[in-house]
Amino acid sequence: MRYWMGIDIGTGGSRALLVGADGAVAAGVTAPHEDIQMHRPLWAEQRPEDWWGAAQRAVRRVLRKAGATGDDVAGVGLSGQMHGLTLLDAADDVIRPALIWCDQRSQEQVDWINSKAGNAMVLDQTANPVLTGFTAPKLLWVRDHDPQSYERVRRMLLPKDYIRFCLTGDYASEVSDASGTALFDVVGRCWAKPLIEKLGIDASILPEVVESPQQTGRITRVGGDATGLRPGTPVVGGGGDQAASAVGNGIVRAGLVSCTLGTSGVVFSHLENAAYDPLGRVHTFCHAVPGKWHVMGVTQGAGLSLQWFRNQLCGAMAAEAEREQVEIYDLLTREAAEVEPGAEGLFWLPYLMGERTPHLDASARGGWIGLTAKHTRAHLVRAILEGVAFSLNDCLHIVESLGAEVAAVRASGGGAKSPLWRRILAGVFGRPVASLETQEGSAYGAALLAMVGTGAFDSVEEACSATIREVRRQEPDPDLAAVYRERHSVFGRLYPALKQLYPEM
Ligand code: XUL
Repeated sequence: MRYWMGIDIGTGGSRALLVGADGAVAAGVTAPHEDIQMHRPLWAEQRPEDWWGAAQRAVRRVLRKAGATGDDVAGVGLSGQMHGLTLLDAADDVIRPALIWCDQRSQEQVDWINSKAGNAMVLDQTANPVLTGFTAPKLLWVRDHDPQSYERVRRMLLPKDYIRFCLTGDYASEVSDASGTALFDVVGRCWAKPLIEKLGIDASILPEVVESPQQTGRITRVGGDATGLRPGTPVVGGGGDQAASAVGNGIVRAGLVSCTLGTSGVVFSHLENAAYDPLGRVHTFCHAVPGKWHVMGVTQGAGLSLQWFRNQLCGAMAAEAEREQVEIYDLLTREAAEVEPGAEGLFWLPYLMGERTPHLDASARGGWIGLTAKHTRAHLVRAILEGVAFSLNDCLHIVESLGAEVAAVRASGGGAKSPLWRRILAGVFGRPVASLETQEGSAYGAALLAMVGTGAFDSVEEACSATIREVRRQEPDPDLAAVYRERHSVFGRLYPALKQLYPEM
């Protein structure tokens, strides 16, 4: 058989997916990562070596699961969590744990960049304001707080590009992921040299950048021994997880919008030309479609909110889930479905790792507001599902204000597997929420990019139209939509009321 492989370096785990010539998924395997290390509130680190260990396990297992060998794989595409800072020394060893996308410690460095370069230069050079989540302020945090590590830095890579280095020995990235570094000229699709120089960053630490379907290198003998892939197999640029997921969801032409409910939540729209929100509340980045762009709004704590609830407050449910052979999430959402929409006046603010869209506030804190003794665990969960949906609706409104037509929203990611969460999303958005036949998001998009890069399709658009199909639509229930319109207006006033208290917390 002839397959293409997508490898997605997510936050919770690394996933390897094998896709056949007709676009059908042959097998997928996820190998989990270690827990995120949070030594202080709003800090978030992972070990790149752990990603590589998980990626190796996932690739080996997926080959075994499909009854395939490395010889059956015609090309590999990579996708991964964006913005994470991976630093290598002169011997190509990882210098320190990576500060990942949701790490919020670098406000001081964001302020420094804005005063050194000026907000206008940052916007002009990168098409976005610089945010604590982006890579450049993380690098400067290391400069300011871990100078011994900073002195050793010879290479800076994004998470999936570190895995590329392990597989191929190449230091390379592609335009969609590079867009989230705050050092990339998103309009010109190249490194923003004047800004890099202004900030005193050594440009030689940055990798070469290609368009997403373009080949960056080939599997080396070392990479092959580690994974079972055949040395010489081509590896293409791939995409940041959101751009790759958009390819996997077919968001490759105007008029289509997706909503991904992963650890973070993202509303994503294709752009033919680089347009940006003057207030910088959504990101304008290069798309994985050559020569195109996208705009996206990000809720920092989407799936993360429910995952946190499960990890911290549901220990006693593990036995019940085991007995019923379901996931704890299924038990939680089953309970939540019994609660009235609006959770009897309970609201969840999903700001567990600060917030990006629409508040751009690293100091924002999460929590329930409106608790009474009447509320049960089911209300707490329902409020989480609704609070995340309200926040995503804020993203959708801004994306729409930039000219995106939103007839329907394509949902993907782990959270979108929940019928209740899809129903809530349709109600809050007031639009149909569509599900796709293949719900593999980023890893699938990465495999499609590998197919384009090795000539199986002529373009990303052609790959998507040949392989991606909507199978279901959740129409918005008008009564639910009416309740949520009114609830959203209360939700929208909570952040402004609390905002001035967050820094003191
Ligand atoms: C996008 C973003 C997240 C991460 C983790 O800007 O920060 O989507 O890539 O999924």
